[in-house]
Amino acid sequence: MLKTDVAEIDDQHKELFARIAAFAEAVRKEKGRDEVERLLEFMESYSNEHFATEEALLEKNGFPQLAAHKGHHDYFRRNVAAVKRQLQATQDGGQLVNKIYEMLSVWLFAHIKNMDLAWATFLKKKNT
Ligand SMILES: [Fe+2]
Ligand SMILES: [Fe+2]
Repeated sequence: MLKTDVAEIDDQHKELFARIAAFAEAVRKEKGRDEVERLLEFMESYSNEHFATEEALLEKNGFPQLAAHKGHHDYFRRNVAAVKRQLQATQDGGQLVNKIYEMLSVWLFAHIKNMDLAWATFLKKKNT
């Protein structure tokens, strides 16, 4: 359903969703902060890597809304960095991790569905 049909990108999206599920699982099982922080750390670096891959692909293909798309990625980058700082600054992260989980999953799902599938459609048209 959320497929862009660019294999490398679809694999990265899958990995992101898998880590978000792991995040939810860690929160649910109260696995503790180390695990939550480790997963958030991973999300930060992996989403950066993913955005870079995607932006390079869009640049190569002359996607006309690249600047706006990058803006959405930047918003997420800033958000992840901000919640990471918030989590580091608080002792009791119980409420916060739920908020973080929601932010990660809701944003990612909506972004892929609304924004990534838009460039996927553009690429398909361009390459046919
Ligand atoms: Fe993406
Ligand atoms: Fe994207």
